[in-house]
Amino acid sequence: MLASAKEMLQKAKAGHYAVGQFNINNLEWTKAILLTAEEMKSPVILGVSEGAGKYMCGFNTVVAMVKGMIETLGITVPVAVHLDHGTYEGAYKCIEAGFSSVMFDGSHYPIEENVAKTKELVEVCNKLGLSLEAEVGAIGGEEDGVVGGGEVADPDECKMIADLGVTMLAAGIGNIHGKYPENWAGLRFDTLEAINNKVGDMPLVLHGGTGIPAEMIKKAIDLGVSKINVNTECQLAFAEATRKYIEEGKDLQGKGFDPRKLLAPGVEAIKETVREKITLFGSANKA
Ligand code: 13P
Repeated sequence: MLASAKEMLQKAKAGHYAVGQFNINNLEWTKAILLTAEEMKSPVILGVSEGAGKYMCGFNTVVAMVKGMIETLGITVPVAVHLDHGTYEGAYKCIEAGFSSVMFDGSHYPIEENVAKTKELVEVCNKLGLSLEAEVGAIGGEEDGVVGGGEVADPDECKMIADLGVTMLAAGIGNIHGKYPENWAGLRFDTLEAINNKVGDMPLVLHGGTGIPAEMIKKAIDLGVSKINVNTECQLAFAEATRKYIEEGKDLQGKGFDPRKLLAPGVEAIKETVREKITLFGSANKA
């Protein structure tokens, strides 16, 4: 059974910690994240971008894979399968496929259109018991072909979208997908505080979790962030461990070329990254 993200995030906001959204790309990623969440007794959100959904042979395949793993691996912690940066059409496809949570990213529309489309999806998701994430003020950088300009959200617009009854709200506060540039100015805590004051209990979402210093993450959680998205950091950890294995010639020793051996160091690296994040976000033992 997949969980909506609503209860886990409301608990996180009240308890002053954050739940990690870790994006998945394939079977190894999914297994590594689920096993680590279970080991740490942490709720977890599996993020699926539209591009990653396509890569994994469609949203139906993703749902079937995650449900199968939950059963076979004996996962007991709450697991949400969540569409990341969904289009309007993508949101409906995921709802049909059985996702337990969706993000509709209408941040590139004029605010009126973002409001109208988000409002419609709030009704659909509420009826089905699914959680819905909305976005105001695009996140900078590029993710799976979705390019955001890195705007800082307007707290009044955030309030407008929050009042529609979404489950959680992503607001641009100077955060960027992918690696942060050397000259990055840091998170805009003034804006985050203003947004949090306006939206009250609404869990806030911090995208672009890769590379944000631990102190900034802690401060963001203090100021109302209850969900933090991490994608690139797991990819970098996986790639580095895999490169090391090959550079050391281990694929040429014995049956080292067997994909179950070749991909194992990368899987361990993802697990270690997820472990570090769960510890930093404070969601261990909160399942
Ligand atoms: P990073 O790739 O920078 O960790 O961002 C992930 C994200 O925000 C997914 O929506």
